Amino acid sequence: MKSAGIIGLGKALPERVLTNAEIETMVETSDEWIFERTGIRKRRVAGENETSASLGTAAAAEALRMAGVDPADVDLIICGTTSPDTLFPSTACHIQQRLGCVNAAAFDLAAACAGFVYALAVGSELVASGAHKMALIIGADVLTKFTDWTDRGTCVLFGDGAGAAVVAPVEDGRGVLSYDLGADGTGTGLLVIPGGGGLHPASHQTVDDRLHYIKMEGREVFKFAVKIMGESSERSLAKCGLSPHDVDCFVPHQANTRIIDSATRRLGIAPERVFTNVADYGNTSAASVPIALYEAFLMGRIREGDLVVVVGFGAGLTWASCVLRWTMSAVPEGDGKELAGAARVDK
Ligand code: UT7
Repeated sequence: MKSAGIIGLGKALPERVLTNAEIETMVETSDEWIFERTGIRKRRVAGENETSASLGTAAAAEALRMAGVDPADVDLIICGTTSPDTLFPSTACHIQQRLGCVNAAAFDLAAACAGFVYALAVGSELVASGAHKMALIIGADVLTKFTDWTDRGTCVLFGDGAGAAVVAPVEDGRGVLSYDLGADGTGTGLLVIPGGGGLHPASHQTVDDRLHYIKMEGREVFKFAVKIMGESSERSLAKCGLSPHDVDCFVPHQANTRIIDSATRRLGIAPERVFTNVADYGNTSAASVPIALYEAFLMGRIREGDLVVVVGFGAGLTWASCVLRWTMSAVPEGDGKELAGAARVDK
């Protein structure tokens, strides 16, 4: 087995910003409640032509540019998404066509908000084994298209976006060192879009019954999240003989600052080693970890040789964490100027 790691990163966000103040005009809520309970101030909302494939393509194109990799040299695309452009073909195939990655196998991986970290583990194994040479790992979601804007328990939480990483062979002992993947299918009912699949195919009735929207038991998901983020991170770290004290930068799924604070307090990771941007983007599902990773790197919060832990959790229930020894040393000239979140959308 070789070592595989991240050699390029990218992100893409829709242009439209939706603030808490605007949501106050839609449902019975307040900026104060949303910020205190979630840490979210605003989020990006995809327009008609902004989709998981368009945002995923833009993020992946930037990651390829940063890595200096030609699209034809990519031989694997895995897209973590649960808001695909079409039920089939996969969003990864839409992205493959738009990027011109003509030599790449392509598939989607459905692990909801844990999708990118799941895909990073799977993709890095396929590269480390020598089966694939160059993988594009993408997290892309547009959950606001599946949000019930009359349900204050969910509509304040989600935002749209995409992030991407190029994964390639790296020096031994660097890149992805270990991972932990898991699922608890007894929680399938806690966070679900019930309509539009084979169980409740789309019909006038499913729309009248609002089954095409996200349904969530928020408190249950919250309890699960706090517990699993810590447990999974500790398992991943233990697999390579490390502990939370060794972590230089912790990049968790950006769902809620209270979840992140509780989990990192339990782990004993100091706040200055934890990266968050949930205030600006809300919960962008599978996109949250790669967007955060991209921003942490461009802000200089992650440097070459640092020990980085990424961890996600989501519908399923699913969870995933990876430990990485960072390999990228410098941000190429010209990247990172628009860190506040400029749109890079391929419409
Ligand atoms: O990627 C995974 C995705 N999911 C998550 O990460 C969700 C995890 N869960 C959460 O983040 C939190 O459970 C929420 C932010 C969703 C809710 O916070 P909470 O502290 O668990 O509130 P709650 O659901 O226990 O509700 C407390 C009260 C309720 O009122 P009553 O029954 O006490 O009168 C709710 O009706 O807050 C009310 N409430 C709101 N009030 C104002 C719920 N949503 C809102 C709202 N604005 N948006």
